[in-house]
Amino acid sequence: MKNKKRVLTGDRPTGLTLPIAAYVGTLKSRVDGQSSYDTFVFVADYHALTTHYEDSKHILTNTLGLVKTYLSIGLDPNTVTFYRQSRIPQTFRLNVILSMLTKMPELERQPMLKEKLALGHKLTFGLMGYPVLMASDILIMNSDLVPVAKDNEAHIEIAKDLARRFNSTYGKVFNIPEGIIGEVVIGLDGQGKSGKSTGGIYFTDDSDTVKRKIMGMYTDPNRIHSTDPGEVKGNPVFIYHEYFNDNVEEVKDLKDRYQKGKVGDIEVKEKLFIAIEKFLEPIREEREKIEKKGDDYIFDVLKTGEERAQKVAGEIEAKVMEVMGF
Ligand code: TRP
Repeated sequence: MKNKKRVLTGDRPTGLTLPIAAYVGTLKSRVDGQSSYDTFVFVADYHALTTHYEDSKHILTNTLGLVKTYLSIGLDPNTVTFYRQSRIPQTFRLNVILSMLTKMPELERQPMLKEKLALGHKLTFGLMGYPVLMASDILIMNSDLVPVAKDNEAHIEIAKDLARRFNSTYGKVFNIPEGIIGEVVIGLDGQGKSGKSTGGIYFTDDSDTVKRKIMGMYTDPNRIHSTDPGEVKGNPVFIYHEYFNDNVEEVKDLKDRYQKGKVGDIEVKEKLFIAIEKFLEPIREEREKIEKKGDDYIFDVLKTGEERAQKVAGEIEAKVMEVMGF
């Protein structure tokens, strides 16, 4: 295992599951890479507090839901190391050290902070420090590769800068991680991203819900009649077709006819519904099997992962203390 590169990534448990759009952004690459890389997937539970500190009671339920989502999309608990951020105390000690090396303007100019403030989140010390905690998550596990969606790209840069700054100040401990930047898929309304809390189709949605959401999706706003030529580019229905419909010929044909005004929205949406159902069906079946095993099974998976992760983090922390002379 040691010779494999380490891939590390995580999600904040701000909802019971993830939007399927996340599959395109980062989940698929985790599944595809799990046998080639030493894969660490963690639930950033303390990180959830950066925007939802009042909601601490939901974090555990959301964490369990998230791990079930990971397992049901095909991440193998015998291969992947799963853990909760809160169970790795070394992360938070490193966070204190790295925060000393972080200059405020570096945090002030992170694009995600502006987005979160625009959403109405309060500017807490914790929210400001989000990227430093994220850097701590990454560096304490000596990660090589970090798959994240584009909205986290600036955070990866901060992690790299902090790793370099630490190494040049005290001595080389950290590997310089590389980001693998995935796309952020837009929401069903064509606006923003299909975020965890801002709507979208979710892994746990049943068929009726999926159908209702697809039928309500935005298309080309300028197309009034199905005989009008339509715009495919930037059209949410076609973006989702691109990602979730593996029938390439069908997608091509639909686009073609749409641009010529020869297909109605209903047909395009019904075909998208079929494609998404085909994608979701095996995931739902897997989820059902996992639910049957009960929460104890999830706790077992986490416990095994946490033991391993703590060991890795402990080794890195020992080096940190050594080069710093504590
Ligand atoms: N910032 C990630 C998100 O948007 C979650 C996260 C926290 C993370 N720490 C990380 C991702 C470390 C990758 C590596 O949900």
